[in-house]
Amino acid sequence: MSANERVNFGSKIGIILASAGSAVGLGNIWRFPCEVGENGGAAFILVYILCVMFLGIPVMVSEFLIGRRSRANTGGAYEVLAPGTHWKWVGMMGVVAAFLILGYYGVVAGWTLEYMVTSATGRLSGSKDYTLFFNDFVGSPWKPVLYMAAFILLTHVVIVRGVKDGIEKFSKVMMPLLLLIICVLVVCSFSMPGSSEGLAFLLRPDFSKVDGKVVLDAMGQAFFSMSVGMGCLCTYASYFTRDANLVKTAGSVALIDTFVAVLAGFIIFPAVYSVPGLSPDAGPGLVFVTLPNVFQLAFKSVPWVGYIFSLMFYVLLVLAALTSTISLHEVATAYLHERFKLSRKKAATVVTLVCMTLGVFCALSFGLLNGIRLGGMTIFDLFDFVTAKLMLPLGGMFISIFTGWYLDRRIVREEVTDWGKLRIPFFGFYIFLLKFVAPVAIASIFVNELFK
Ligand code: PFF
Repeated sequence: MSANERVNFGSKIGIILASAGSAVGLGNIWRFPCEVGENGGAAFILVYILCVMFLGIPVMVSEFLIGRRSRANTGGAYEVLAPGTHWKWVGMMGVVAAFLILGYYGVVAGWTLEYMVTSATGRLSGSKDYTLFFNDFVGSPWKPVLYMAAFILLTHVVIVRGVKDGIEKFSKVMMPLLLLIICVLVVCSFSMPGSSEGLAFLLRPDFSKVDGKVVLDAMGQAFFSMSVGMGCLCTYASYFTRDANLVKTAGSVALIDTFVAVLAGFIIFPAVYSVPGLSPDAGPGLVFVTLPNVFQLAFKSVPWVGYIFSLMFYVLLVLAALTSTISLHEVATAYLHERFKLSRKKAATVVTLVCMTLGVFCALSFGLLNGIRLGGMTIFDLFDFVTAKLMLPLGGMFISIFTGWYLDRRIVREEVTDWGKLRIPFFGFYIFLLKFVAPVAIASIFVNELFK
């Protein structure tokens, strides 16, 4: 397919909502509150915001410009902009990362689907041991596999409809719905007794908690949450129209992503503090063990309120996860479709089958395959470690070096300033961040994660 025949997103709002859909996901609602809870609250959030501004946004703008300029999926973009060089491996790493992330992310997404269904059927209410409930579910030999497969299939259905009729249409409906649910849940959470303590935890920074590890965790979280470092937004940007303002789009996506993460904290912590004895530092179990306890204990006298709160929360998680799995799937589908000239449907089917197969191993690593360890990690943890902790930071570092040092400055300027039509006041600062700050900072996350 020649560049001119390539599809585009149909509108600027579609561009922003699809990209924000990729960014907003389990990273915001599941992972961010865990990190905040474990790393001391508001101080972590401040460091996180600095990482978003000075690392995340510049790398995002770079991904956007690489994608829009090349008009190719991330696996092919570097072949267009730097033909015959080794830069193509940066793109290929992104495609491999998409398969791997979808493999394990699909498992947690499957859990959210199961919790949504269990909530809807009323089985997530009443007094029970929610730790046992969670462990039984994730350790079962078939349930998590089934839900993971169902989730990836849902993703497949959107992807085969295409960029405009699938991804864009879906994002335009789902993102506003998601934001609406979040706002309703924040109001509910604020009105719970004892919520002020949870708010204080989020708003009162304790800088004595900020050490090297917290800074590095915040950087890793920013990359994962903003979907940068693996060419996901590069692939989406290859469908951007010529008149999309890349800096404004990156700013809007970063704003929505950070806003949702902080609001997720505003939902979860006041709720957790409203029940004596529950703690905000429960790690990954926060959403799947602590919260069901909250829904049950806090609303003992009005169980229907607990039912609605719980159902809305898990619907929110499913929607957020789905808009992100769609973007991961698209990276791999677009690559197979364009590189091997497979039809979009065939390419999507291959991606779905491969990711489901990887997902089976990740899902079973909490039960049947729990004994298999590599470097002390289960298969699931290994996938998470290799992608989120190694491939994304490495990808981000190479993307900033590529744009800051290798790519012709004229191309960067044309894309970022819309052929001189826009005045971008901080262009020099942007280049400085890309050339020096991002590579050095990201290299330090990388070294930290590798040698800790
Ligand atoms: N940003 C997504 C989240 O916060 O859940 C996860 C993600 C999606 C990471 C797409 C990377 C990616 F390419």
